[in-house]
Amino acid sequence: MGKFNVALDGPAGAGKSTVARMVAKELGYVYVDTGAMYRAITWKVLHKDIPLEDLSAIADMTASTRIELLPGLTGQTVLVDGQDVTERIRSKEINLHVSHIAAIPDVRERLVSMQKSMAAAKGVVMDGRDIGTSVLPDAEVKVFLTASARKRAERRYLEMNASEISLDDLERDIERRDQLDRGRKVSPLRQAEDAVLLDSTEMSLDEVVNAVLELCRTKELRGN
Ligand code: CDP
Ligand code: CDP
Repeated sequence: MGKFNVALDGPAGAGKSTVARMVAKELGYVYVDTGAMYRAITWKVLHKDIPLEDLSAIADMTASTRIELLPGLTGQTVLVDGQDVTERIRSKEINLHVSHIAAIPDVRERLVSMQKSMAAAKGVVMDGRDIGTSVLPDAEVKVFLTASARKRAERRYLEMNASEISLDDLERDIERRDQLDRGRKVSPLRQAEDAVLLDSTEMSLDEVVNAVLELCRTKELRGN
């Protein structure tokens, strides 16, 4: 049985990256965090002081930027033009701007084409917003993972230093980003017609991972 691709989409904090990483490990596949790529471009826009409204400068910069995602023991390392930005791309400031940058068509075109080539050899678990609909429309397994906004905020809160942000602010930030991601013109966040919907509000992480692995096994049994 040959390798296949797994597309995992859903709103912020639904558990996509945690689940995708665990599923990839179990299958011996490569995990690709596409959100990290949009965060990396957003980091560079801010770092280079490119005005947020200068769409052509942002497009030119994106076209000449090298993004590398390196798998490691403690998670993925993100390099922008060789510089390690793994920690920096998770800041509040990046959270604030990333959905605006991700709505720019030229930025999406460039990153989607990189993502398609990363998955060309199959054996990839990719998470994001438009993987099942736009990046890998032929992915053999597609999952749309969601949970209530409150639950997603609570899970994120547990991961963070509590003094950084309040639970209510976190929930507002998540909802604001979801609204921008669902409402944009180019490949908005939505469930692909052939994706399986998993609502993890009342599910443990292991239950979600097992549900996704079960879908993969069914695919293997059917021989694709
Ligand atoms: O981890 P979290 O769900 O908070 O966000 P992320 O997956 O790192 O994605 C950050 C932002 O990048 C999202 O809010 C989207 O605006 C954008 N994104 C996108 O537009 N398309 C993707 N395939 C992945 C992320
Ligand atoms: O990538 P995304 O923004 O969708 O979510 P994440 O960064 O993986 O964060 C989800 C957090 O919720 C992680 O701390 C998970 O351990 C936790 N969690 C989960 O993902 N799924 C559950 N069913 C329960 C908890």
